[in-house]
Amino acid sequence: MTRRDFIVLFGVGWVANYLPIAIATTYAAQPSPQSKPKSKISENWFPVGTVEALDKTGQLLNEKSPVGPVLIIGTSKSQNLIAVNPTCTHLGCIVEWESQEKIFLCPCHASEFGVDGKVLNGPATKPLNKYAIKIQGRSVLVRNIQST
Ligand code: FES
Repeated sequence: MTRRDFIVLFGVGWVANYLPIAIATTYAAQPSPQSKPKSKISENWFPVGTVEALDKTGQLLNEKSPVGPVLIIGTSKSQNLIAVNPTCTHLGCIVEWESQEKIFLCPCHASEFGVDGKVLNGPATKPLNKYAIKIQGRSVLVRNIQST
């Protein structure tokens, strides 16, 4: 075997051994074309109920929506619809809307939250989470609001 034959044979062997590893490493490092960045998830709107159900009583509670529990206050004619996660931030009871006082009241330990979800009276110390809301056709849609 000549020196030239040895170098050619060694080069071919090296390429045959390491090329598949290099290709696999390159593809593994790239994101799959089907996977979406996590930030896209919160841009999605999810239907949580119908306009008819909302207009019937002026509120709509969906405890098993795709974004989590949702309580919407208002009607399709309202200028400012309110959508919150009604899970009390104290110990997790579902708050109720008190339309006379315009507060969310927790039936368990009487925490009170304003229309903006902020705590008015404890024992809860953290606000209710809010959702963005819109009406599209006959559906009521919400999406998570990204915190910045
Ligand atoms: S669970 Fe709501 S105040 Fe305690």
